[in-house]
Amino acid sequence: MKAPYRAQIVAVGSALPERRLTNADLERMVETTDEWIVTRTGIRERRIAEPGQGLMSLAVPASIQCLERAGVAAEAIDGIIVATISGDYVMPSTANLLQHRLKAAKAWGFDLLNACNGFVTALATASAFIEAGRAKRILVVGGDVMSTLIDYRDRNTCILFGDGCGAVLLEAGPIDGPGIIGCELHSDGAGGDDLNIPCSGSAMPSSQETLAAGQHFLKQNGRAVFTQAIRRMAEVSSNLLSSLNLGCSDVDLLVPHQANLRIIEPTAERLGLPMSKVVVNIDRVANTTAGTIPLALSDALADGRLRAGSRVLLVAFGGGLTWGACYLTWGRP
Ligand code: UT7
Repeated sequence: MKAPYRAQIVAVGSALPERRLTNADLERMVETTDEWIVTRTGIRERRIAEPGQGLMSLAVPASIQCLERAGVAAEAIDGIIVATISGDYVMPSTANLLQHRLKAAKAWGFDLLNACNGFVTALATASAFIEAGRAKRILVVGGDVMSTLIDYRDRNTCILFGDGCGAVLLEAGPIDGPGIIGCELHSDGAGGDDLNIPCSGSAMPSSQETLAAGQHFLKQNGRAVFTQAIRRMAEVSSNLLSSLNLGCSDVDLLVPHQANLRIIEPTAERLGLPMSKVVVNIDRVANTTAGTIPLALSDALADGRLRAGSRVLLVAFGGGLTWGACYLTWGRP
């Protein structure tokens, strides 16, 4: 059965903390070099929130900018989904705090926890509501304050992440108009230990011992995640395109999760896409987990690469393990 509506992204907003943490700064904190970080990851600097600056400090400006660009009042939103692993609190959800702050009186809201694949998952979820006619406008926010989850004594992880947040407004449009055409999501919990935060839920409540052992910090088996990320991002992208009877010539712009330039390049190569069709901002903002794709969309709009009629493929991979892709056509400039 054909959905009666298509969910269209009508605006994008973004927010980054002021403070820059450069590779030179990290050289003074752990045993690393700018050369190692650039050649192994493509990252040159990342933005870091001030102490006490939670996700709301970025989600609010990103959402306000998005709504202003869309020309839509907060009261007209039906729902808010915030993809994050670093919301201000586990409870209340950041989406509920945002609903109140934006004065989005009739909007429901919930947070969606799916690590680096959070934004694609949230987009797939929100578009399903819209396609089914259960909501007309949903604000989808993706962002993380990764600096609160990182051990800045661990050179394996502290160089990789940054803080940032983006927001998009999804609106119901005609089924034959621009918008989200297809999404595909996957999970494999067998790789859960390869990227995790041991002390972050009910399995290991925090104690003095867990704190002293740094169990509240992100741990990663970098090599294992690296190999899977390339394989899965290329695989889900090709599967999605073929399920829609499309090929890589139907992609004008690939907007991949920004975890490592050495993951992005081979993914594009496997898909037969030149790097001129790939949005990369990892050099300036690093891996912001659920924030990478909306921040990259915002950059691509600002530099004119994303415009009305662009055919866009979003793809992400992250801790879970989880991966997914979304194919869409861009409506507004
Ligand atoms: O977004 C969520 C998903 N996350 C990802 O997709 C990240 C996936 N993983 C990666 O991006 C890469 O695996 C890393 C960037 C984390 C590491 O790159 P790598 O090429 O896989 O390096 P490696 O882990 O194999 O380490 C190579 C060497 C090691 O030394 P030995 O054992 O060969 O002596 C590390 O200890 O590099 C060392 N190393 C460093 N050296 C300087 C690790 N981190 C650093 C560092 N500076 N910051």
